[in-house]
Amino acid sequence: MNNPIGIIDSGVGGLSIASTIVKFLPKESIIYIADSKNCPYGQKSKEEIYRLTQKMADFLVSKDIKLLVVACNTITVTSIDKLRKDYPKLPIVGIVPVLKAASERTKSGKIGIFSTQVTAQSNYQKDLIEKFAKGCQVLNIGSADLVPLIEKVDFEAIDKVLNEELRPFKEAGIDTLALGCSHFPLIKDRIQRILPGVLVLDSAEAVSRQVQRILKHNRILSSSKKPSYNFYTTGDLEQINYFAKELTMNARIERISLP
Ligand code: DGL
Repeated sequence: MNNPIGIIDSGVGGLSIASTIVKFLPKESIIYIADSKNCPYGQKSKEEIYRLTQKMADFLVSKDIKLLVVACNTITVTSIDKLRKDYPKLPIVGIVPVLKAASERTKSGKIGIFSTQVTAQSNYQKDLIEKFAKGCQVLNIGSADLVPLIEKVDFEAIDKVLNEELRPFKEAGIDTLALGCSHFPLIKDRIQRILPGVLVLDSAEAVSRQVQRILKHNRILSSSKKPSYNFYTTGDLEQINYFAKELTMNARIERISLP
């Protein structure tokens, strides 16, 4: 089935996941939406996040997607159950947290999770820590400022915030850091520079494997030799162009406003 896979995020962050899905599944076409105009979602109410998410999902459904990837931790932790209820026929993959992998790979037993504030405070995340990181010492920090700075591609300000916000991880002596926000893999090298020797994990591979499993199971894998990549943004073209280029994704990029 050659219909596209739809991917949503509050902004450009989910491109970090889109590019890994393309590597895993090179025959699949992708439609991506970044709601950069309304980004960040991380400090909005659950109701507002869902209202905005639904607009993106409706747009993608109108494009006949065969599967929806929620490439955003904040949307996953607040809205995935409701999305599955409201779009019962559509397979939906949310962010697959890397906490389990982090707890398996840590040597010191000290793990960090770095996400947005909504994700850090969610029960979803707390339940995961409870379930997968038993016996580990977990430091769970939510950043208020990073996502909008990544959207603006303001690396000077990003480095300043990272120096401040990663300090507690350094002081706690973590050896493994799970990135709980899809924007953060876009600045992984900068995080790594501040935390040398710390194993930094993100969700892109786990999400891609999950997408592959569902497409196989539902027998809806694509056989296309010429997959297409269409990216839409509600914000500025310049920013999504920057990251698409960084990730070497050759896509048609268009600015839209959602009703
Ligand atoms: N990429 C989103 C995430 O994974 C950022 C959320 C936001 O807009 O605050 O959480």
